[in-house]
Amino acid sequence: MKVHPNLMAVADLIGTWEGEGTGSYPTIDDFAYRERVTFSSDGRPFFTYRQTTTSPDGKPMHHETGYLRGVGDNRIEWVIVQPSGVVEIAPGEIRPNNGNELHVQSTTTMVGVAPTAKHVEAVQRCFILSEDRNRLCYDLAMAAVGETMTHHLSASLDRVDTTPLD
Ligand code: HEM
Repeated sequence: MKVHPNLMAVADLIGTWEGEGTGSYPTIDDFAYRERVTFSSDGRPFFTYRQTTTSPDGKPMHHETGYLRGVGDNRIEWVIVQPSGVVEIAPGEIRPNNGNELHVQSTTTMVGVAPTAKHVEAVQRCFILSEDRNRLCYDLAMAAVGETMTHHLSASLDRVDTTPLD
């Protein structure tokens, strides 16, 4: 497995993760979803990230894809695109927490929205890699459609394989 030194701290993200999440926002009904995430590396200083979600009965929901760039000194930069017409640029950091847990926290510095997309002003993400590296949880909050920064998503995913594609 080739992992660039800038991302060695989060090398255990590489692989495929599956699990379940829940979502809410002041303007919509609460919902549940299933999720599959892959991170892969070809040795350059970024991981390729792909995420798909479905409703509990299997209908496609949110998808997103992009790159987790490792820029040195435990700093990262997310570049994420969504078919809903939203593009995120989000710098952040990798930091240990609670002993051996790892947090990857980021806040957007730029959100691009396509002319017909819902308005999103800012997004905060926190990924938590468990101490045993076999569970990946995250929380996502956003300022969107006129609301201030408010929780939208939480999910808990389990490692289902460690194949480093690319
Ligand atoms: C696991 C990923 C996600 C799932 C399953 C999900 C699901 C949903 C659902 C079911 C709705 C309500 C129906 C709709 O408007 O389509 C919604 C609304 C919305 N979501 Fe998400 N979402 C996800 C990620 C995101 C992300 C990453 C963003 C922004 C960066 C986002 C922004 C929005 C916005 C702006 C709305 C519209 C709220 C409104 O119209 O009042 N979502 N989402």
